[in-house]
Amino acid sequence: MLKLAVLISGGGSNLKALLDATADPEFPSEIVCVGSDTDAPGLAYATAAGIPTFVIRPSDYDSREEWGQLLAAAIQEHGVGTGPNPGLVVSAGLMRILPAGFVRWFSPHLINTHPALLPAFPGAHAVRDALAAGATETGVTVHVIDEGVDTGPVLRQVAVPVRPGDTEDELHERIKREERPLLVATVRNIATGELDLAAVRS
Ligand code: GRF
Repeated sequence: MLKLAVLISGGGSNLKALLDATADPEFPSEIVCVGSDTDAPGLAYATAAGIPTFVIRPSDYDSREEWGQLLAAAIQEHGVGTGPNPGLVVSAGLMRILPAGFVRWFSPHLINTHPALLPAFPGAHAVRDALAAGATETGVTVHVIDEGVDTGPVLRQVAVPVRPGDTEDELHERIKREERPLLVATVRNIATGELDLAAVRS
């Protein structure tokens, strides 16, 4: 059983998809904790499912590295990132760049979902940037997190067409409809060993 620590900042619809999938006893993975950098509304999904949550705010620490150390410790308390079965940290809408020390500890057992076809449109405004660039296609990428911003090895991608007149919200919602099942499928593939993260290390 692959242990998951999920990190979020917002509404948590990707977290909800993972919670729904892992509620099935046949699913080869379980969520052991959900963390956030803020009082994310999506934490309520974890609480409702009886899964421990924690909030660790960067503003409470002198440096991003220090914040990362506390975040790592909170995750390790739940058995992720330690021992022979380190599990997996899933950044599912965490709107923070994880500091280098955190990445070095967990990677490659550390993945992110990003609403664009990387390497196109990295960063926090991927959907807006795709629209501004006049892209006719964008999508979603699940990738291993490395020390760069959205630069780690790509695991899975799905394309989503941009429709004429799309607003940022409309396009993002359409991307998220593809993103949720892609994230669940990627976690399943990692849990079963079909996807070997050690082999995709950059
Ligand atoms: C997702 O599209 C994720 O890729 C992006 O923020 C969104 C989070 O959505 N970074 P939700 O909170 O899971 O609904």
